[in-house]
Amino acid sequence: MDSVTKRYPDGTVAVDRLSLEIPDRSITVLVGPSGCGKTTTLRMINRMVEPTEGSILLDGEDIQRRPVTALRRSMGYVIQNAGLFQHRTIVDNIATVPRMLGWGKQRARERAAELMQRVGLDTSLARRYPYQLSGGQQQRVGVARALAADPPVLLMDEPFSAVDPVVRKGLQDELLRIQEELGKTIVFVTHDIDEAIKLGTMVAVLREGGRLAQYAPPAELLSAPADRFVEDFLGADRGIRRLSFFDSAALKLTTDSVVPADATADRIAAAPDPYLLVTDADGRPLGWAERDGQAGGDLAAERLLPYGRPFVPGADSLRVALDCAVLSPTGWAVAVDDGGRVTGVVSQQTIGEAIRAAHTERAAHTERAAHTERSAHTGSRTHPRKDEAGVAE
Ligand SMILES: Nc1ncnc2c1ncn2[C@@H]1O[C@H](COP(=O)(O)OP(=O)(O)O)[C@@H](O)[C@H]1O
Ligand SMILES: [Mg+2]
Repeated sequence: MDSVTKRYPDGTVAVDRLSLEIPDRSITVLVGPSGCGKTTTLRMINRMVEPTEGSILLDGEDIQRRPVTALRRSMGYVIQNAGLFQHRTIVDNIATVPRMLGWGKQRARERAAELMQRVGLDTSLARRYPYQLSGGQQQRVGVARALAADPPVLLMDEPFSAVDPVVRKGLQDELLRIQEELGKTIVFVTHDIDEAIKLGTMVAVLREGGRLAQYAPPAELLSAPADRFVEDFLGADRGIRRLSFFDSAALKLTTDSVVPADATADRIAAAPDPYLLVTDADGRPLGWAERDGQAGGDLAAERLLPYGRPFVPGADSLRVALDCAVLSPTGWAVAVDDGGRVTGVVSQQTIGEAIRAAHTERAAHTERAAHTERSAHTGSRTHPRKDEAGVAE
């Protein structure tokens, strides 16, 4: 989008000289308070709204030069409350565009069934009508319908805003999975900053009057908000939330105080820390015991303190690791492998040191990236994929 402005006939400036380079095959989120021009921006991309000034290029070509029907067919569109045809069955809703494109009924229905599975809907729902589905299920149908003709671009306008938080989380996870599998270019509108941070490879924060406040990857928004407006919009605990983008793999674990339930008195006495993490015969955590005053032989017979929630280094973020330590009665987090076996423990203090190191390293990296960008002014930039596992927290 190159300096795009939309002034409605009544004089309202909904979008003001907006320039954005939207990377393909990733999710770009437009976020901002109500009335800041998100829907208008999205609708200019498929020409449901025409800009007053500026131009929008798709793969380098001005969309004004494309026939509007062809343009819209290359862009699936999903809205809040799904916008399904109430008098059509689920399968026929999903098959709408393929049928319009002249596909045979059988082929269109097969495609619809395939898409139902893709978006996590049981195909037994195919013959139902929209009112016979839950809000979350209807929203999935909306996504399936938008994907039916396999468009390279998906435009989504607050698609998950009307469903409850648990269902919303499921839909968000599903969207990340679908994007990973299908590699669509998705432009996603929301007023929910947490949703933006979770889903976006790039996030454009808009302010009232349709002006761009900041355009950056989520981790950068959290670490370096451009101004007070963005900072306020991000909310109070951005420092903690930012830890979602840091890997826990580099945490230095210790096993010196991890002991089996049948540890001998000598082994216990050799432990350097006041608390012992006791494991069963398979190496799974049982709980914490005080080191001092233990005779040894059967620690599991003791009244153990709960070990809380363990984390998986590499799969979980530093935010999860810190949360585990904060929740632990000893202030130590328990690390486990995929199979739930203890790989070590780590103190709050060590996690704190890792956080500081990660910040320093990230700042240096950002500085280097900024330098590279200044010295090389090629148009395209690549955006690193972010740690989804961490973001899910
Ligand atoms: N058809 C229209 N005519 C006049 N003003 C409009 C029209 N559509 C939207 N607006 C105004 O443009 C601004 C941006 O609207 P919109 O793009 O819907 O914002 P958002 O999706 O961020 O809530 C708002 O002030 C809204 O009232
Ligand atoms: Mg809107």
